[in-house]
Amino acid sequence: MSYLENPVSLCYTIFCITICISQIQNPEEPALKETLTIAPAEIDRQLFYCDRIRARLAERPGQKKAFVDTYGCQQNEADSERLRGYLARMGYSFTDTEEGADLVLLNTCAIREHAEQRVFGNVGALSHTKRRHPAQIICVCGCMARQDHVSKRLKQSFPYVDLVFGPQLLWQFPELLLEKLDGGKRVFATDDVPGTVAEGVPVVRQNDIKGWVSIMYGCNNFCTYCIVPYVRGRERSRRPEDILAEVRELARAGYKEITLLGQNVNSYGKDLDLGVDFAWLLEQVNEVPGEFVIRFMTSHPKDAGERLFDVMARCEKVAPSLHLPFQSGSSRVLKAMNRHYTRESYLKLVHQLRARIPDVVLTSDVIVGFPGETQEEFEETMSLIEEVRYDALYTFIFSPRRGTPAEKLEDPMPKEQKSANFQRLLKRQNEISGEKHRAYVGGTYRCLVDGVGTDGRLSARTVGGRLIHLEGSASLVGTWQQARISDSSTWALFGDLV
Ligand code: SAH
Ligand code: SF4
Ligand code: F3S
Repeated sequence: MSYLENPVSLCYTIFCITICISQIQNPEEPALKETLTIAPAEIDRQLFYCDRIRARLAERPGQKKAFVDTYGCQQNEADSERLRGYLARMGYSFTDTEEGADLVLLNTCAIREHAEQRVFGNVGALSHTKRRHPAQIICVCGCMARQDHVSKRLKQSFPYVDLVFGPQLLWQFPELLLEKLDGGKRVFATDDVPGTVAEGVPVVRQNDIKGWVSIMYGCNNFCTYCIVPYVRGRERSRRPEDILAEVRELARAGYKEITLLGQNVNSYGKDLDLGVDFAWLLEQVNEVPGEFVIRFMTSHPKDAGERLFDVMARCEKVAPSLHLPFQSGSSRVLKAMNRHYTRESYLKLVHQLRARIPDVVLTSDVIVGFPGETQEEFEETMSLIEEVRYDALYTFIFSPRRGTPAEKLEDPMPKEQKSANFQRLLKRQNEISGEKHRAYVGGTYRCLVDGVGTDGRLSARTVGGRLIHLEGSASLVGTWQQARISDSSTWALFGDLV
């Protein structure tokens, strides 16, 4: 029985949380009205469950190992760091393979068909590892787990999956796991519950140079192609003091890059009634002492503007880079996508940004083959990338998502034509990226050395976020350096330490 079916546990949970009504932008969208702020006592209770699990694991000899497999975006990466935090508190150490792991946790993504297929493929393969290691506990969480057809399929076709829970119940993972361990029965906690904000969940970070900080969760925008608002719930902001405390902690620990995360960071604070916005938050983060660069994603063009660009230009720690997804170069398609801006207003934004930060590194997302997109409309996307000249572009072919409005739209363009358009766009963007990279050659740039590649060379990032391959000692990882660029390719710059 999951906590949702357990009246005692449910009453306790409701008793321990404060409910506030968050703003709803589109009254036609599914009614998920509340934000649940999880009380500190509730997280303490989860930590108590972690300790009970730890005691159980200690009864059996040997170190218990967990494998956490993360799909999708940085928000999921950040969520996995919290799941690892709980697992570490339970006494698990971590392994990078499912083979022989005592617990496997798949933190899934539902953004495109391909992402889902990969997860189902990997869940299928777990039947073999579980056969070899019958005590293995298999958990599936994240965005896919919130979709009814997915949880139904997991229930029916993958009987060895032990625990399934959606993103809103991440904070309750210890309790759900204990329920499985105590009761033996499979636990499915996948109902459509209101979005949560939980502070105080322990974190085990994957990287000690670059840190993620979620500033908000969910999305209110309901772009017609997108599943995120359905699986992640309504937009809700963390309180500024909690965000700043986390940033200070990272800065004190010597982190060199801090990335603020949200599906639409530019609407930060709208639900808080504190009179704060994202530009204000950025200034506050900039004030935190430390030698770190601040990045953020994602910005929605409908909410980004001159106030943000002014703050970016003024704040010395904020990276001169912006990821500003445009999705389509056609105003007609943008309207059908429910994006709330036009080609013209988007181009005006780019102009305003470059007027303030001329060397800004600009990246974007685009969808090819949105239902009903004509060849002429695709040509508008081609001409937009020509006009803007992005440093890099993330290109996607439209993938119908169950329950979204775009799933039901007529989609007459043949697959082959979409695919040819996609290839053309990719090819042209690669040329542009290559040309933009060539302009770095001969220059010297400040960069953060962030790792060592398989070929033994160092990898580094300019403050704008461009990748540099460098010769040098591994002892430099985690330090700021100056690099002189001697060569470039579509994907990277090559240089020497100065
Ligand atoms: N919140 C971010 C995007 C998150 S999803 C924003 O609004 O910019 C990342 C990208 O995946 C989107 O920008 C979009 O380009 C792409 N995407 C989302 N849903 C998709 C779908 N159904 N098919 C193809 N690409 C999609
Ligand atoms: Fe999806 Fe649009 Fe929200 Fe981005 S802004 S997560 S694309 S609905
Ligand atoms: Fe995927 Fe969920 Fe992120 S659908 S892209 S993991 S918000």
